Amino acid sequence: MTQKRFYVTTPIYYVNDRPHIGHAYSSVLADVLAGYHRLLGIPTWFLTGTDEHGQKVQESAAARGIPPQELCDEMSQHFRDLIERLEVRNDDFIRTTDERHTSIVTRALAKLHEQGDIYLADYEGWYCTRCERYWTDKEVDATPDQRCPAQPELHDVERLTEKNYYFRMSAYAERLETAIRAGEFRVEPQKRTNEVLGFLAQGLNDLCLSRNRERLDWGVPLPFDDAYVCYVWVDALLNYKSAIGYLADDDAERARHDSWWPVDVHLLGKDILTNHAVYWPTLLLALGEPLPRQLLVHGWLLDKSGRKLSKTKAKDDGGDTRPLPTIERLLDVFGPEATRWFLSTAMKPGDDTNFDWDIVRERVNADLANGLGNTANRLLKMAATTCEGRYPELGEAGERERGIQTAAEEAIAAVEAFPVSLDLASVVGAVRRGVDAISLYLSDERPWKLAKDEATRPRAAEILAWSIEALRLLGLAVTPIVPRAAARLREALGGVGDLDFAAERTFGTLAVGTELGAPPNLFPRVGEDAIPTA
Ligand code: MSP
Repeated sequence: MTQKRFYVTTPIYYVNDRPHIGHAYSSVLADVLAGYHRLLGIPTWFLTGTDEHGQKVQESAAARGIPPQELCDEMSQHFRDLIERLEVRNDDFIRTTDERHTSIVTRALAKLHEQGDIYLADYEGWYCTRCERYWTDKEVDATPDQRCPAQPELHDVERLTEKNYYFRMSAYAERLETAIRAGEFRVEPQKRTNEVLGFLAQGLNDLCLSRNRERLDWGVPLPFDDAYVCYVWVDALLNYKSAIGYLADDDAERARHDSWWPVDVHLLGKDILTNHAVYWPTLLLALGEPLPRQLLVHGWLLDKSGRKLSKTKAKDDGGDTRPLPTIERLLDVFGPEATRWFLSTAMKPGDDTNFDWDIVRERVNADLANGLGNTANRLLKMAATTCEGRYPELGEAGERERGIQTAAEEAIAAVEAFPVSLDLASVVGAVRRGVDAISLYLSDERPWKLAKDEATRPRAAEILAWSIEALRLLGLAVTPIVPRAAARLREALGGVGDLDFAAERTFGTLAVGTELGAPPNLFPRVGEDAIPTA
């Protein structure tokens, strides 16, 4: 099945603190998903951005004594800087304080209200007057004697009732369940589907979507009642549609929306599953909009002792696992390409992974410096001495040669299956096997020995030809993960102009006599001493 286009999103990141490794993970993974589709010539749209409203942002700004917008501008820029450093190629960056977004939130809320999907009712909850906020039953119950979770020793909570607006979420539960069971709305991996179905089976409440402005002002005002702002999650989820022109005034903008929606993949972490698998699709059903094709839910990167590298933990632990130094250090030590390689190959879909500097170092050295990088250097060095730096003829294929060819073609096949499988591990696995196959072929055939004797030198050249051609295809296969190194390899193997995968993906098409470059040193080896000890 060929897809006509591919629209992928990351969650939009909270700006109440600086970016960390978990954000880097989401952004790189989405970039790689987008990259494989682009490589195959599929029109692709990759959206990311920042989530700027709500309690946390208001509180962080107040703590620093600055207006919330100032905090948002500053923090949002950090997220842009991070994705730039990671060489992520997003097509758009949405901010929920953008007028193009807030105006659409207003319209969507008005529509839901007009059609009777939003109603006013009493809200009852635990309120702390000192913190000026409501806490959930669960949060309060977790404290001794039902006190304020922020300051249990000092603050009381009281049971308060106030009017709030609710979204008739329960009315859409059945349709959501049907869509999930029919595979119309997929939640991957399967265990997350089960989780959502289990959640739905408990019965769905309606969703409180307003916040009283006396307490929380930093949000989008409800168009039908100025005393309230919109709950941050409803506001935030709509970014996936506002950014592509949903409900826009302009015809061309609306047409743009229709050309991308429904989204193909929303990428998200397991902590925000309910918001994406229940709130969002029920809102979409109410709005009469098609559901996302798929949610791809990943686990967490945990520190070595199994804790989430979150802001809260960082503070609890006295700063040792501070998120920012981790991603910055990762980039400082490994550079963008190896960091991207690690992040995209780090996790099995859906599972958590413990972050360990030594394991990362071993992995990137094995796959990149010793694997692809060393193979490229060896082959181009030998080509320079054996066949004057020109690509030689393949000659007859024996069993070994056919094996090399098959290994490389398997990597290409995994790339071509990607739009359906979204299986990065199969691409990376095939590339690793391809590199190993070349390595074994070389160590068995010893072209460097054969090159010494004039009579056997042509055979040495043939061995190089098969190996170089296989390496060329492996380089194409990793382009979305390590675009810079892949481009340098392609150039060293005579590639000119823009990459044309369809034209270059076939084994045996490298022209005889092509001038080959010098050993490109694609990936530096990362020494033990480069790893931070703290
Ligand atoms: N603002 C909301 C998302 C709104 S989307 C309409 C949010 N932001 S977040 O900044 O807290 O998290 C963004 C993403 O980063 C989530 O998918 C979350 O799972 C991911 N990560 C945060 N910490 C993480 C790790 N330690 N490991 C992997 N990803 C984790 O939630």
